[in-house]
Amino acid sequence: MPSRTIVVIGSLNMDFVVQVQRLPAPGETARGENFRMIPGGKGANQACAAARLARGTPVRMIGRVGYDSFADHLRASLAAAGVDTSGIHGCRSAPTGVALIWVDRAGQNSIVIAPGANAELTAADVETERACFVSASCALFQLESPMAAVAAGLRLARDAGALPILDPAPAAPLAPEILGLAGLLTPNETEACLLAGLPPQRITLAQAPALAAELRARGARAVVLKLGDQGCFYSGPEGEFHSPAFRVEAVDATAAGDTFNGALAVALSEGTPLPEALRFANAASALSVTRPGAQTSIPSREEVDRFLSGRAGF
Ligand code: RIB
Repeated sequence: MPSRTIVVIGSLNMDFVVQVQRLPAPGETARGENFRMIPGGKGANQACAAARLARGTPVRMIGRVGYDSFADHLRASLAAAGVDTSGIHGCRSAPTGVALIWVDRAGQNSIVIAPGANAELTAADVETERACFVSASCALFQLESPMAAVAAGLRLARDAGALPILDPAPAAPLAPEILGLAGLLTPNETEACLLAGLPPQRITLAQAPALAAELRARGARAVVLKLGDQGCFYSGPEGEFHSPAFRVEAVDATAAGDTFNGALAVALSEGTPLPEALRFANAASALSVTRPGAQTSIPSREEVDRFLSGRAGF
């Protein structure tokens, strides 16, 4: 029987990346170095991660790009990773999305996106892809696409019985209906605080259960809080548990969260039990942090398996 598909609905950006000693303050001109253009976009990164990590599960990307050379590069990067790019459509009214990224010496970043064609993805575009949801095990969403397109995809995934995993990034308020449509919500600390009506703050492991409970009270069915170097915390029908992070030397955190989501979709699609799936996603994410860039940093399945086999596990 052919493997069920992972569908990714989301953004594709060309990332313009500069390394800086420290992130500039408002009004400050900072000197950077090592400028690079690297394929990115939260949706495309998740698709790339899923395809690099999958063992035979097909991955299909749905999105919009302009008619320009960035679009060619972004399609080629995903195709090289093994993603089916036939759901990426051209847009005449806007250029391909771009992201301007500063990365400091500790690997932390600041990102500004100009969505371009990503903002032209419509609910009708997503509904045209109805057939691919029917064969999907998981559908991955983020918030760099218009909410109407995200909502249409979430409904299609729900109706088809696929698990919709919503990464509420970049942080934005969400209607209860959207929260309720997501089978799994995967915010980082900033996003979780915003969705829970709290000021942005670091979340300790002791605070995680209450924060997750608040998000569930607001409509989320299950939550994975992504807690950076503290790992992640799950709260949902399968109970509550913490999966610790792996210690690595951080070079660049760009796409670490995207890698986590792509990896989690792969593991769950393969039928991996949730605790082990979270451990797999933490490992993939940790490896991505040790390398610069977005899609350039995403590890292969062999790398993640080797990394995990060198550590005590389940
Ligand atoms: O999550 C990282 C991504 O955010 C970057 O690749 C950039 O394109 C922005 O979408």
